[in-house]
Amino acid sequence: MSSRLPTLAVVGATGAVGTVMLDILSTRENVWGEIRLVASPRSAGKRLTVRGEEVEVQALAPEVFDGVDVAMFDVPDAVSKEWAPVAAERGAVAVDNSGAFRMDPDVPLVVPEVNAEQTRNRPRGIISNPNCTTLSMIVAMGALHRAYGLAELVVASYQAASGAGQEGIDTLHDQLAKVASDRTLGSRAGDVRAAAGELGPFPAPLAMNVVPWAGSLKDDGYSSEELKVRNESRKILGLPDLRVSATCVRVPVVTTHSLSVHATFEREVDADAARAVLASAPGVVVLDDPAAGEFPTPADVVGTDPTWVGRIRRSIDDPRSLDLFLCGDNLRKGAALNTAQIAEVVAAEFTA
Ligand SMILES: NC(=O)c1ccc[n+]([C@@H]2O[C@H](COP(=O)([O-])OP(=O)(O)OC[C@H]3O[C@@H](n4cnc5c(N)ncnc54)[C@H](OP(=O)(O)O)[C@@H]3O)[C@@H](O)[C@H]2O)c1
Repeated sequence: MSSRLPTLAVVGATGAVGTVMLDILSTRENVWGEIRLVASPRSAGKRLTVRGEEVEVQALAPEVFDGVDVAMFDVPDAVSKEWAPVAAERGAVAVDNSGAFRMDPDVPLVVPEVNAEQTRNRPRGIISNPNCTTLSMIVAMGALHRAYGLAELVVASYQAASGAGQEGIDTLHDQLAKVASDRTLGSRAGDVRAAAGELGPFPAPLAMNVVPWAGSLKDDGYSSEELKVRNESRKILGLPDLRVSATCVRVPVVTTHSLSVHATFEREVDADAARAVLASAPGVVVLDDPAAGEFPTPADVVGTDPTWVGRIRRSIDDPRSLDLFLCGDNLRKGAALNTAQIAEVVAAEFTA
């Protein structure tokens, strides 16, 4: 094992997740030697700042992985599917943020606070980062699972526009600008839709609205996003039979996903004890004093790293169930930060 700082490639450095990744790489303790920035040919030659230095963006090509130890992929599924194996063939460990490999049995799905040991179990040379909605709750759920044994999750999400990438952010801002000045809007069916303009990546206007849909249509009427919450939670927690039911909803928030969770456990729970479990869990902050107006909201949580938990109640009807409200920045822990944490676990192998 050599003792040198490993070389990192960030593929998708110009996107919504990539932009946050550059900020995270600039502010966390540095574990990297060279950092290469990669995107589509459209962005080649652009200069982006990371660790206080300007770096030129390179177009994605096999040679960009030569000499690279870890390659992060913050790109659409199809691009990861084609290029993460290329990076792995050229000797890099690929850490992929897309949905391309998450359910591949030969690719670990890692949340360092929950299952960091899985990073070494990577026969394809690829490690997957979970979907942002799953990530916004799973650190807290992992802590509660260790304490009480999880039996079932019933989840409703309130997902931010940036979960649909830079196009989602731009669409929400454009729509908000169009509807903001007309104080008559929101009183007649269809008036917001007529005023909001382009729908962008959403199936209905997002400004002044909530949209009970994220992702694509899958079996039995579920969306792809809802199935990801179910399947990825099972894989990360190592509970293949966990009962999970999710309804994913998009709300007019730029960044930070929220989730309302009804969690049922093997053992009886107590709200104060659960609060203590969560308060001592790495990566979790409890903010739970409704009398003082203290609970997590996206406006207060955005830009921070932890999973925030509040409104913790033992179910009135079931002593084995808790009701909770969680918020997590979908571009930080929900994407870039978790990828950076996985990459740092791998980087430690090079300096061990
Ligand atoms: N947004 C979230 O909350 C979130 C959370 C978890 C995971 N993810 C996943 O992370 C990935 C990136 O999402 P995002 O929201 O950052 O998307 P985005 O804002 O649309 O950015 C996409 C990035 O991929 C690059 N790219 C696109 N096509 C390419 C190609 N053919 N070759 C090389 N680079 C290409 C783009 O480069 P150009 O600028 O040059 O086009 C850009 O850097 C997706 O798989 C997404 O599902 C997103």
